[in-house]
Amino acid sequence: MLSIKNVSFTYDSGTPALENVSLDIREGEFLCIVGHNGSGKSTLAKMLNGLLLPTEGAVIVDGMDTADDDRLLDIRRRVGIVFQNPDNQIVTTVVREDVAFGPENLGIPTEEMIVRVDEALKSVGMESYAESAPHMLSGGQKQRIAIAGMLAMEPNVLVLDEATAMLDPYGRRDILKIVHELHEKKGITVVMITQYMEEALGAERVIVMNSGHIEMEGTPQEVFARGDELRKIGLDVPAAIELRELLKERNIADLGNAMTLEEISEGLCRSLLKI
Ligand SMILES: Nc1ncnc2c1ncn2[C@@H]1O[C@H](COP(=O)(O)OP(=O)(O)OP(=O)(O)O)[C@@H](O)[C@H]1O
Ligand SMILES: [Mg+2]
Repeated sequence: MLSIKNVSFTYDSGTPALENVSLDIREGEFLCIVGHNGSGKSTLAKMLNGLLLPTEGAVIVDGMDTADDDRLLDIRRRVGIVFQNPDNQIVTTVVREDVAFGPENLGIPTEEMIVRVDEALKSVGMESYAESAPHMLSGGQKQRIAIAGMLAMEPNVLVLDEATAMLDPYGRRDILKIVHELHEKKGITVVMITQYMEEALGAERVIVMNSGHIEMEGTPQEVFARGDELRKIGLDVPAAIELRELLKERNIADLGNAMTLEEISEGLCRSLLKI
């Protein structure tokens, strides 16, 4: 679906942001990208729909090269990106118009657009806000509108670049739930960049970026088992996994693959009560 081939990228200022990154993203995959500040995550995200073009290497979306000007519109239709700051993504004064903005630019006929906008708003649970003013909404609601705007373009791939970073825990949980639903029900490929390790637990695959390259790759289970290496490059492991390691280290209980606090408490009860 999406293929990043030996991509390097240097900003005009001379800052190298990506160095020889290769990554294939499968259709329908739920991929999480983590990494400390400045590790190149956003630069990589912008490569995925041609917002930035590689200095070296190539990015291929469904057989189309992002460096090919003629295919850029097709590529943007397939890969939608939601960014961190909800305020920067609002362009009009009515929610409905905001969601319609993307498809309008793609030249979708009006009747179809109305259907798409309604459906997109429904997918993010914002249908009752269609006629509201976006600037009156909460951060989480604005992000849902931004996601709806992408959905209205019917993308194959949804990229979220720390889209939950400015939200409170409830807003974060809602967005996460919506994204997982879109993945499960609509089969949308998801690339989620996050600084919250807990959010990566629900992914099928986790990529760890460090200084412009891919440092680790694997299932959440595989990646978070390498806690010491992660800490060395400035990352944490989810609290539940940290607790699991501690319990094992202190010979209290070996909870195997437990990943959530629920699994830990259940396992701990079983182990202590010897059931
Ligand atoms: N517009 C820009 N001009 C010059 N250098 C930039 C620009 N944007 C990013 N950089 C630099 O490129 C490198 C990678 O930045 P990038 O934004 O991709 O990292 P990131 O992993 O997304 O970080 P964060 O977690 O802070 O969002 C950093 O050294 C950063 O300072
Ligand atoms: Mg970033």
